[in-house]
Amino acid sequence: MFAKEDAFAKIARLKKERNAVILAHYYQEPDIQDVADFLGDSLALSQEAAKTKADVILFAGVHFMAETAKILNPTKTVLIPDLAAGCSLADSCPAPLFREFKAQHPDHVVVSYINCSAAVKAESDYICTSSNAVRIVNSIAKDKKILFAPDKNLGRHVMKQTGRDMLLWQGSCIVHETFSLKKLTLLKMEHPDAVVIAHPECEEPLLAEASFIGSTTALLNYAIKSEAEKFIVLTEAGIIHQMNKSAPEKTFIPAPPNANCACNECPYMRLNTLEKMIQALETMSPRLDLPENLRLRALVPMQRMLELSN
Ligand code: 13P
Ligand code: SF4
Repeated sequence: MFAKEDAFAKIARLKKERNAVILAHYYQEPDIQDVADFLGDSLALSQEAAKTKADVILFAGVHFMAETAKILNPTKTVLIPDLAAGCSLADSCPAPLFREFKAQHPDHVVVSYINCSAAVKAESDYICTSSNAVRIVNSIAKDKKILFAPDKNLGRHVMKQTGRDMLLWQGSCIVHETFSLKKLTLLKMEHPDAVVIAHPECEEPLLAEASFIGSTTALLNYAIKSEAEKFIVLTEAGIIHQMNKSAPEKTFIPAPPNANCACNECPYMRLNTLEKMIQALETMSPRLDLPENLRLRALVPMQRMLELSN
């Protein structure tokens, strides 16, 4: 166990020695967010990974995010603090089952949410994130049928926004499905002046309560710019750290999970620690590598997404 200041100093020294950059998602614990060089949502993290000049990318996020960095910038060494940091949503869509599903619907254009494995990306025509899913789906000709995977909640939200009918893979995120409508209703009664903001991975009845729905970056920006003073935040509680830092005069209330647990914290994201980050930079492992043929196939739909996101 390191004191926080020692850990920060060690990371700064190792980063210099390795010419490394630290990319982190908003769902990381606050100390990791504070030590990161770049924080962002999945789209911004992908864009940053694609353009970094550093030799090493230490990705404080989950496995599919580190894979994405490798897909986009293969000459870099990509490190992940804990290889076990997966994602329930990505796991809900195993590539062999997805291939079978796709084969049953050969006339569909496949749009996959970035929260999926490289093997599922390789089966997709387009990748999207929560910040550009509507735009990507709108870019597809109206006469085309669309298969959307793996998040059914985001898929349903996009269907509502675009008016397109889509065939949905029935995957979901354990964190965003933990929120309780009953508890949210009670919280709203307690704080009638609070604005509800939500990530589109939440279930439909909760999204129906939200005044604003968006990616983690979009939620943060909305909270900063809004004239409201108080917000109930329906997403992983890590984002509250940036909200408090960016708008310290406002009040941010994390939406409560259904059970008496910390289930509104992503158990995969939270596997990463400062200690594991130090170890990764010291040992240059665990390293994220991909077979080149898989990487190239996964790159095609990723590039389509990035072109449509400019
Ligand atoms: P964002 O792209 O909105 O950051 O979402 C990532 C994620 O994993 C949500 O659960
Ligand atoms: Fe996956 Fe959900 Fe964790 Fe995001 S919050 S990484 S979707 S398990």
